[in-house]
Amino acid sequence: MRDFNEDTATTAVLERLSGCEDPRLKEIMTSVITHLHAVIREVGPTPEEWMTAIRFLTETGRICDDKRQEFILLSDTLGVSMLVDAINHRKPSGATESTVLGPFHVAGAPKKKMGDTISLDGKGDPTWVSGRVVDLDGKPIGGAILDVWQSSSEGAYDVQDPTQPAMNLRGLFTTGPDGRFFFRTVKPSSYPIPTDGPVGRMLTALGRHPMRPAHIHFIVGAPGFEPVTTHMFVDGDAYLDSDAVFGVKGSLVVPFAKTDDEKKAKELGLRNPFYAAEHDFALARAR
Ligand code: BEZ
Ligand code: FE
Repeated sequence: MRDFNEDTATTAVLERLSGCEDPRLKEIMTSVITHLHAVIREVGPTPEEWMTAIRFLTETGRICDDKRQEFILLSDTLGVSMLVDAINHRKPSGATESTVLGPFHVAGAPKKKMGDTISLDGKGDPTWVSGRVVDLDGKPIGGAILDVWQSSSEGAYDVQDPTQPAMNLRGLFTTGPDGRFFFRTVKPSSYPIPTDGPVGRMLTALGRHPMRPAHIHFIVGAPGFEPVTTHMFVDGDAYLDSDAVFGVKGSLVVPFAKTDDEKKAKELGLRNPFYAAEHDFALARAR
């Protein structure tokens, strides 16, 4: 190949894959090269524009460390994370839908008993969260583990906010034979994804806001069942239709009902008035 030009470019590069012995890698790279060349042909970037793209990706890598993953944020904000998730979770109907994991999950959250609180500082609107973990026939699943984490009422995770105690608003709950779970917390609020890096600047340049609607994260798993990484979204949140990372699914939006009942609040160990959210998780059998 001596005449690499606009017409021959794609064929020339694809021919170089003839020695690739990994068929899946070859398939993926054939597609990546073909689509990347198509973008360049369609957009026709100037050398300055191409350098802007290179600098953007360089910065995206530079800001990553063991706590910050800007490439995942880029994938999230371009809808790629949710597209990969959708392709990989074509669940039987009835199973709880999955959504993004996000960057704030911490392994090794403290084990809690049902009814415990996950709010270590008690700051925010008291909230009761309950429901059941069931199979696709609606039968309770005992021994299911719920890994729960959420932002504070001010919209920050413990790992982002030095004023919060470590492991604030995190907990691991195990269901009994009735499949029920219940715990105390505070009502989460909407919050911006990290905007102090290249992805934040990209959103601004595109005229997009960085907000996620209020939610509680869950990973729910049980022996013999497919685990699900999901959220409970707070119904009525202003950002439900414009989540910066495209994570909202209608089936995951849950009413957080304001409840003014002194006796009930006392029984549950909450300040009155409080919010109550009830939602079941349905798991599909492992294949
Ligand atoms: C989150 O919900 O924690 C999250 C998800 C994706 C990007 C940033 C934050
Ligand atoms: Fe979150």
